[in-house]
Amino acid sequence: MNTVIKKIDASRMASSDFKEAADFLRSGKLVAFPTETVYGLGGNAYDSTASARIYAAKGRPSDNPLIVHISSFIEIDPLVSGIPDEARALADRFWPGPLTMILNKSDRIPKETTGGLDTVAIRMPSHPIANRLIKEAGIPIAAPSANASGRPSTTKAEHVIEDLNGKIDMIIDGGSSDIGLESTIVDLTVKPALILRPGYITIEMLREVLPDIEYDKAVLKRMRDDSIVAKAPGMKYRHYAPKGELTIFEGDIGAVFRAIVREAESRLKAGHSVGILTSDELAGNYKAIEHADAKDLSGDSRDKAIQEKSKLYIRDIGSRNNEAEIAAGLFDALRYFDEAGAEYIYAEAFNEGGLGQAIMNRLMKAAGYNIIKVN
Ligand code: TXA
Ligand code: MG
Repeated sequence: MNTVIKKIDASRMASSDFKEAADFLRSGKLVAFPTETVYGLGGNAYDSTASARIYAAKGRPSDNPLIVHISSFIEIDPLVSGIPDEARALADRFWPGPLTMILNKSDRIPKETTGGLDTVAIRMPSHPIANRLIKEAGIPIAAPSANASGRPSTTKAEHVIEDLNGKIDMIIDGGSSDIGLESTIVDLTVKPALILRPGYITIEMLREVLPDIEYDKAVLKRMRDDSIVAKAPGMKYRHYAPKGELTIFEGDIGAVFRAIVREAESRLKAGHSVGILTSDELAGNYKAIEHADAKDLSGDSRDKAIQEKSKLYIRDIGSRNNEAEIAAGLFDALRYFDEAGAEYIYAEAFNEGGLGQAIMNRLMKAAGYNIIKVN
């Protein structure tokens, strides 16, 4: 399949920029587009064939429901069987924006779109290109994150091209997603309301509107514990995983640094390639091992094979004091390690308050809950 790549500049876009994309969506074709969280892979939410195509393009299990995107609040009416006051209150405060609400669905939404569930996830994105695309198409747009199933979500058009080129009809390139982590998901079909996926809208922000909202148990888990079943079906699958083996080190920052250096050096010596996911605070310190190539590490300058394979890739995603920056760079860093071919990846843990909850949720899933505590 030929995938049309269309660049759109949000600061000077016109209706004509969206004509082909809107026609595609109305005719059941798939268009990837930028949102403020991550790129989405869009299709007509009313069309069960379009939903089936989305699952096929991503290689995603079809019991994993899609989020339906709208461009203004009134568009919610035909999608749901009722609008609770909580939904209006949250929409007033956080829409358009990175919040998804689970509500009871109407009959117009086919089960293919909701993975067989009687509920539907709805979000009104704030990204001007996403908003305009939905308006121009004139239909609700079902869109999961625009990545191949299991891979890190996409925050740039280049990531979408990597995963989906040739499998979908169009990719709209609108630059990088600002937030970089998927939306916060809130289930309003239960009382008290539950957070199924942490995101940019934190529990503290949500409690200003719904004081008794809680995390679903699965959000807080820190181990591979299959007895805790995620309520958002998508949260149960292996997710965001880089190809290399990812380990998170948690604890006192100095101890984390020493543990990562020790692990990295021992893998490099054995002729492996290593990635380090770090922050501004520590990045400079790893430079010491950056130039300690395999010659020094193995003590054998003739061992060319080991030297060639043992490569170190350091990725600094920002300051620990700037969680928005860490969030925005996380998925891009995981993809960078894949491209580099890093076999072992060592990541520093981040603080879990505020936006850190979402950052660590994604990082722990990417690592398959492979976390080492150090002191
Ligand atoms: O920021 C986002 O939410 C992005 C952009 C494109 O909007 N979309 C996104 O979609 O992250 P996706 O498909 O990658 O993740 C949707 C999550 C999955 O974990 C899915 O199981 C859950 O939402 N979900 C969807 N409908 C649900 C429902 N009715 N009940 C419970 N969970 C639901
Ligand atoms: Mg996803």
